[in-house]
Amino acid sequence: MRKLIVLLLCFYLGAFEEISTKKFPESFLFGAATAAYQIEGGWNEDGKGESMWDRFVHDDPSRVKDGQNGDIACDSYHKWQEDVELLTQLGVKLYRFSLSWPRILPDGTPRKVNQAGINYYRNLINALKQAGIEPMVTLYHWDLPQHLLELGGWLNSDIANYFGDYARIAFENFGDDVKLWATVNEPKTTCLSGYAYGEMAPGFTLPGDGVYKCAKVQLLAHAKAYHIYHAEFATKQKGRISLVIDASYNLPALNNDRDIFGAQREDEFTLGWFAHPVYLGDWPELMKTRIGNLSKQQGYSFSRLPEFNQEEINYINGTFDFFGLNTYTSNLITYIVDIDIGDPNYFTDKSTIPWQDSNWAPSNAPWLYSYPLGMRKLLNHVWNTYKPGSIYVTENGWATDGSLEDSSRISYLQNYMSNMLDAITEDGVNVVGYTTWSLMDNFEWAQGYTQKFGIIHVDFDSPNRTRTFKTSAYWYKNVVATRCLVEECLD
Ligand SMILES: *[C@@H]1O[C@H](CO)[C@@H](O)[C@H](O)[C@H]1NC(C)=O
Ligand SMILES: *[C@@H]1O[C@H](CO)[C@@H](O)[C@H](O)[C@H]1NC(C)=O
Ligand SMILES: *[C@@H]1O[C@H](CO)[C@@H](O)[C@H](O)[C@H]1NC(C)=O
Repeated sequence: MRKLIVLLLCFYLGAFEEISTKKFPESFLFGAATAAYQIEGGWNEDGKGESMWDRFVHDDPSRVKDGQNGDIACDSYHKWQEDVELLTQLGVKLYRFSLSWPRILPDGTPRKVNQAGINYYRNLINALKQAGIEPMVTLYHWDLPQHLLELGGWLNSDIANYFGDYARIAFENFGDDVKLWATVNEPKTTCLSGYAYGEMAPGFTLPGDGVYKCAKVQLLAHAKAYHIYHAEFATKQKGRISLVIDASYNLPALNNDRDIFGAQREDEFTLGWFAHPVYLGDWPELMKTRIGNLSKQQGYSFSRLPEFNQEEINYINGTFDFFGLNTYTSNLITYIVDIDIGDPNYFTDKSTIPWQDSNWAPSNAPWLYSYPLGMRKLLNHVWNTYKPGSIYVTENGWATDGSLEDSSRISYLQNYMSNMLDAITEDGVNVVGYTTWSLMDNFEWAQGYTQKFGIIHVDFDSPNRTRTFKTSAYWYKNVVATRCLVEECLD
């Protein structure tokens, strides 16, 4: 038994060791990523409005591990100059961060613009430009203004119009300096966690219908911002804008037709759910027929997957200038043939069980599973299926307990980046930039401060929120400087 475990371990560690000795292309942009609610704090300062996350964590602290919240987080609202200094020390040329919608528009509507909020981002962007760091700005990274939640949040199609107004204000104020925009971050996770399981804000459990409506409204919002940018700003500002989609690579658990089909269905219900409408037009066929058929059996006269009419299909189809991909791990997929359809539910609609091989997880971070080859395979899948022209890996990273010696993170990053490099150099996938998650330890949503994704440590016990480079930050700094993942690259 022990021998088998050792053998398996060697097999998996073996798969970890073939690090590319090539160099990243000169033009490749290395960077780091964060999001407003996870780092800023200053939740009610200088005229900022309340977000649905502020309300969610204050209403019931038990919703987050250890009753924590993002009231102060990394205090980046006050420490942004230090953050730019850290990015400069890392040597990165790209910083992906998000704007807090209610910091700019306190109730989410253009009725009142909060000048202090505009100034905060203006200063940050100016400092980045001065440091030679390209800002990549996410418009929506989950902190919906509370007022808009009270109008129904992502279940109300009007929110797409409010999002358009907000996006226009962002383009007007920052578009001369910001050339890379992300509209909505991870709509899949927002809709699943906020509108199906309910462990994230706004905490709704509507897994049979709300979850699909949320997806439709977020896609309409994304498309609205895209069209506003291209109609009113792109000619002058010459930037690019796209959605950021989170996805995992899916492998059939067993090499049989059943699980091969299951892996395909998992792909369509996760990645295709958002990528198909934007890159190919309309929902994936597999989702339409499956949810349509089940809805009929459940007595509905219409599909729980809200249809797009032709005008909406055309409006969303093609709204991309690149592909923003967040990816952390891979899944093995077991397909359930005879699932009891029971109550309407995204999971029975999908009828797959994603799981991870326990050998993928290190003992000190059992919540994360590492299968580096999945990075290369997923990039190829995205490239070949959606033909996006270019890809930014907008998030990829690893959580630890927060210690400064983080060799497991280095191993993760080295192996994932090596597979990304293989996709570029061996497979011809045009990956042009990479922003690792995350620049620093931060508020990890329902996990509070227990999952630390930073390459930089933040001391949450100190009022100063002192930042300290972890070993991985020094490692990454060297990768950025040499464009090389090993001690010495070939060319
Ligand atoms: C989406 O747009 C592409 C390119 O214009 C087109 O070929 C495709 O048919 C469209 N998809 C749908 C479903 O209309
Ligand atoms: C859905 O129903 C149609 C017509 O009843 C059938 O032809 C098709 O095979 C079904 N598709 C799925 C995925 O169940
Ligand atoms: C916080 O920073 C201030 C100013 O740099 C310093 O005087 C103080 O000792 C620091 N406090 C802690 C707890 O690190």
